[in-house]
Amino acid sequence: MRTVISVVGARPNFMKAAPVKRALDRISGIRHLLVHTGQHYDAAMSDVFFEELGLGAPDRFLGVGSGSHAEQTAKVMVEFERVCLEERPAMVVVYGDVNSTLAAGIVAKKLHIALAHVESGLRSRDRGMPEEINRIATDAITDLFFVTEESGRRNLLREGVEEGRVHLVGNTMIDSLAHLAGGMGPAPAGRTGVVVTLHRPSNVDNPEALECLVEAIDSGSGSEMVIFPVHPRTEGVLRAGGLYERLAANGRWRLLPPAGYRDFIGMVRTARLVVTDSGGIQEETTWLGVPCLTLRESTERPATIEQGTNDLVGTEPEAVRAAISDRLSAPPLLSHLVPPLWDGRAADRIARIIHQFLAQ
Ligand code: UD1
Repeated sequence: MRTVISVVGARPNFMKAAPVKRALDRISGIRHLLVHTGQHYDAAMSDVFFEELGLGAPDRFLGVGSGSHAEQTAKVMVEFERVCLEERPAMVVVYGDVNSTLAAGIVAKKLHIALAHVESGLRSRDRGMPEEINRIATDAITDLFFVTEESGRRNLLREGVEEGRVHLVGNTMIDSLAHLAGGMGPAPAGRTGVVVTLHRPSNVDNPEALECLVEAIDSGSGSEMVIFPVHPRTEGVLRAGGLYERLAANGRWRLLPPAGYRDFIGMVRTARLVVTDSGGIQEETTWLGVPCLTLRESTERPATIEQGTNDLVGTEPEAVRAAISDRLSAPPLLSHLVPPLWDGRAADRIARIIHQFLAQ
């Protein structure tokens, strides 16, 4: 029996890992353990996803919580090293680009444990983003690369990774989405509202810049309802400047606590438009065929633009206002493309490849 440990820590990790856990649990000869670092810990940021994704309780909870990048990364490393020394896994699987991803990866490699990275190879080429550092550093020590889109494969090959170690398998976040959407039935025909999510430090940590973005969204969205589930990082900044109360008093804005997975996807699939700075939401809207405007200067997920419904509009307030207003006055999308292998079966491919790798 070989032990494989999946490490998750922050909200977007949970939907990426859930289908992989299910697929690995079905393989005899593999004992799969799920470790939750506790990077995200609020019920609304963590527990609700475990329940809705049917993940059960994690096998280990490290309780690291919030802190500076160094504190958070270091705490994950100290705690996860103990787990690895006790469990002696043959492989550690990390997901995405959060601090827990990098921290667990470093621990695994220093203990000579094979490392697999799900969603490897994505590059925004913006090294001001903490996630870009996490991606580059994790991929520098990864053994087995699971890639969601062709750009990821190309990036890794350009960086000198051996071709045989790179596997374009599709997108496990889309596995979770396909599973959830399949149980929801067809989306209602009429779309309404603009769903907004903002949490990138570069957009929300500066109160004046955040206020300008919010005003641009407000004026661009005309008479549409704006539905805004607020990330705790963003809520802190909005409340400190009194903007939270002002928006809550505006009848056209609905400020909500961070939404659970089912509620969030429910909002997105009936929206006319999504305005976001998230990574994963660019992919979810692509699969659902919902127009998305991304308030960033770069994306590590170019397939969502080349094939999907995403547009990169930057963060300049007038450009944001104009893009929202233009999209809302454009005719609805009649058809859309979905990137290759985003078919709900990526995790099965990953489990098969891990099984083969461990058998060698
Ligand atoms: C993290 C990831 C980011 C991901 C995002 C999704 C890194 C570097 N960033 O950013 O890539 O897109 O998660 O949400 O790993 N907080 C709570 N409750 C929680 C968690 C956080 O109140 O359960 C608050 C704390 O004040 C904390 C702040 O949110 O200081 C930020 O949390 P943190 O985990 O540092 O980063 P995120 O902004 O959530």
